[in-house]
Amino acid sequence: MKSIAIFASGSGSNAESIIQYGKLSSAYATKLVMSNKSKAYVLERARKHNVDRLVVNREQFYEDREHVLSALEGIDAIVLAGFLWLIPNYIIAAFPNRILNIHPSLLPKFGGKGMYGQHVHKAVHLAEEKYSGMTVHMVNREYDKGKVLFQASRYIGDQEDPQGIGKAVLELEHKYYPKVIGQFVNSL
Ligand code: GAR
Repeated sequence: MKSIAIFASGSGSNAESIIQYGKLSSAYATKLVMSNKSKAYVLERARKHNVDRLVVNREQFYEDREHVLSALEGIDAIVLAGFLWLIPNYIIAAFPNRILNIHPSLLPKFGGKGMYGQHVHKAVHLAEEKYSGMTVHMVNREYDKGKVLFQASRYIGDQEDPQGIGKAVLELEHKYYPKVIGQFVNSL
């Protein structure tokens, strides 16, 4: 079975749906959850599911290759789920075309640096978009610019605020991201 590592910075609702789907479907095993925040709730979710956890500070993540790459030994693919730091080149080089990200909009709309979480949904709301959704894409050296693998959209014209849009998009993320990951890792 293929092994994945999840990188996440926040609540980790996607990370949890990814871990659960892997267990239920046997499409992959989640071996590690890595976070840049020691208080991130994603770590608690990983603990509950008996998944190894690693917290890295900025210096370790960007300078201590040995430390990070040794934690990733045996991992086939990395999936980002609300991870807010740019992936350094040495990780991209060690996992060529093996890093996925999820973004809570229909890229190329509402992507780029500073566009994450509620910032995205606020911008979508301000632009009075009628549809929004999620994008799964490959990670390269720029924020939100890698090849798009999958998108799902839904009508959000009836949502009154950015929170409502965020909730609607999150439902799509939970529904599709784990399946896309399963297909991706099994095509490697
Ligand atoms: C998700 O909506 C994800 O698409 C987004 O952060 C949220 C994390 O939620 N990612 C980005 O905005 C990346 N640019 P979660 O911690 O509950 O999974």
